[in-house]
Amino acid sequence: MKHLRFLLFSVLFSCSMRSADNAQLPEKFDIQGHRGCRGLMPENTIPAMIRALQIGVTTLEMDAVVTKDKKVILSHEPFMSHELATAPDGTVPGIGNEKSFNIYEMNYADIEKWDVGSMFHKRFPEQQKLKLHKPLLSDVIDSVENYIKQHKLRPVYYNIETKCQPSTDNVFHPAPDEFTSLLMDVINRKGIAGRVIIQSFDPRTLRVVHNSFPGIATALLVEGLSNPNHQTKLTDLGFTPSIYSPEYHLVNPSLLSFCRDKKMKLIPWTVNDSAEIVRLRSMGVDGIITDYPDRALKN
Ligand code: G3P
Ligand code: CA
Repeated sequence: MKHLRFLLFSVLFSCSMRSADNAQLPEKFDIQGHRGCRGLMPENTIPAMIRALQIGVTTLEMDAVVTKDKKVILSHEPFMSHELATAPDGTVPGIGNEKSFNIYEMNYADIEKWDVGSMFHKRFPEQQKLKLHKPLLSDVIDSVENYIKQHKLRPVYYNIETKCQPSTDNVFHPAPDEFTSLLMDVINRKGIAGRVIIQSFDPRTLRVVHNSFPGIATALLVEGLSNPNHQTKLTDLGFTPSIYSPEYHLVNPSLLSFCRDKKMKLIPWTVNDSAEIVRLRSMGVDGIITDYPDRALKN
């Protein structure tokens, strides 16, 4: 009888830690540092991830793209953005020609010669300026895990976005099967699969993860411009992801109860205003993605 009670308790406890598709996720309110902490440090760089750890995030949000030599690196765009990149010769791409500096047509040895941390960012004037390059995902994970170990911090989660879309397959990135396989190779090699969420606006890589890597959490990203029908989004995806991640102004009580019914966590992006962070938190969302995790942790 005692054993039966223990077994029942264990089953109930493990269920409470699991989400819709059986993946492990943070149990407490999830403060996710967007691109590390874009408000404070150059986005998608190792120092941005370390600063986010120092602030105390539960999850590091980051964007993944693939190079010509098939390395997974952090970058929001699959090219050298005019907003943040400086070429090795000191020139800067223009808004009209930035896409010609296509990361999927460049080897990593050339990509790492570009500085992506020194340029002043008009929208994030508080960003500390440092000479930095786009990092390999594997180096990001090593740096983060070492920092956690050295400073005896709680393990952090990784929310990794696959930056892809059907119209640019094999132009700016590999097709979904190859993209997912390259990404999952790094994650599995580094032994962090139990703390990874794969997120995307593109349902295709999420379907690959769901079918081929069923233990990995997934997050469906939803943009707000077209006033989306949430059920249609899920029907198109074809399964219930662990997390529903809409642009923050789409959050309302009806979306919250939709997510509760489907047993999905609701984690909106990108919430930078302190009052809005408080409002969403009191509404009952499960976490927020923010460029300023310091503001989120003050509330
Ligand atoms: O994680 C959600 C958010 O990062 C999606 O938007 O454009 O900043 O990658 P974006
Ligand atoms: Ca992102």
